[in-house]
Amino acid sequence: MDDLEDELRASGSVFAEDEARLLSESATSEAELDSMVRRRTSGEPIQQIVGWAEFCGLRIKVEPGVFLPRQRTEFLVERAIALGDRGDTLLDICCGSGAIGVAVATGLGRADLHATDIDPAAVRCAAENVSEAGGRMYQGDLYEPLPRLLHGRFNLILANAPYVPTGQLHLMPREARLHEQTVTLDGGEDGLDIQRRLITEAPGWLAEDGRLLVETSDRQAGTTMDLMKEAGLVTTLATSAELDATVVIGRR
Ligand SMILES: C[S@@+](CC[C@H](N)C(=O)[O-])C[C@H]1O[C@@H](n2cnc3c(N)ncnc32)[C@H](O)[C@@H]1O
Repeated sequence: MDDLEDELRASGSVFAEDEARLLSESATSEAELDSMVRRRTSGEPIQQIVGWAEFCGLRIKVEPGVFLPRQRTEFLVERAIALGDRGDTLLDICCGSGAIGVAVATGLGRADLHATDIDPAAVRCAAENVSEAGGRMYQGDLYEPLPRLLHGRFNLILANAPYVPTGQLHLMPREARLHEQTVTLDGGEDGLDIQRRLITEAPGWLAEDGRLLVETSDRQAGTTMDLMKEAGLVTTLATSAELDATVVIGRR
């Protein structure tokens, strides 16, 4: 165990002790442990190696290439649970692993959860997480794959869509650049291409008292709010200094 910790530490791991324990617990043979350690020391995120990420106290299944849920996004979940009710109809749009929808559904106790993503790897991974939470997964562009009967039905639409401007992708941490696909991060020239489309179409999918929650950056929050106002939503800004998180909330 000490050798393993030293090897991980030497490769740059800040949490060598925790990672050594995690890898040892996950591997079912010496050969598998060797291969996992090789993957970790060459820079692959620990969550992709062990196959799960911790999010809001839950174990969310993740796969190589799929966006790893970030701790800052727990703030969006917290706001959604505070605004939602047991039994709500939820949409996790651009869901990645499905972490947000699963965490909100779990927090509300019971929910009718729907989730969409365009990326086949994310859809494969989220399908397991979402179905374990009793929800349904759809593949396609934003709202396009949803059944029309859900139009006007969502109490909460939850979105952490890509919002990194294309020109700033090279500034992302190495683990993200190398191990998460560009489609999970790239928000176009100003970072808001996906948000813009997602917000414009949201009012039609929201129930009468429904709310749209969008994670954004503090720098982009003003534009995210303007987009919601243009779509006819009443907006509120929520921030967490502790999690460095910004969420814009729009109400019909
Ligand atoms: C930043 S990741 C966030 C994933 C998840 N919401 C989370 O917080 O863990 C953005 C996700 O949006 C998906 N995506 C990008 N463009 C999309 C589109 N046009 N329609 C649906 N999903 C899209 C990507 O595949 C990726 O899984």
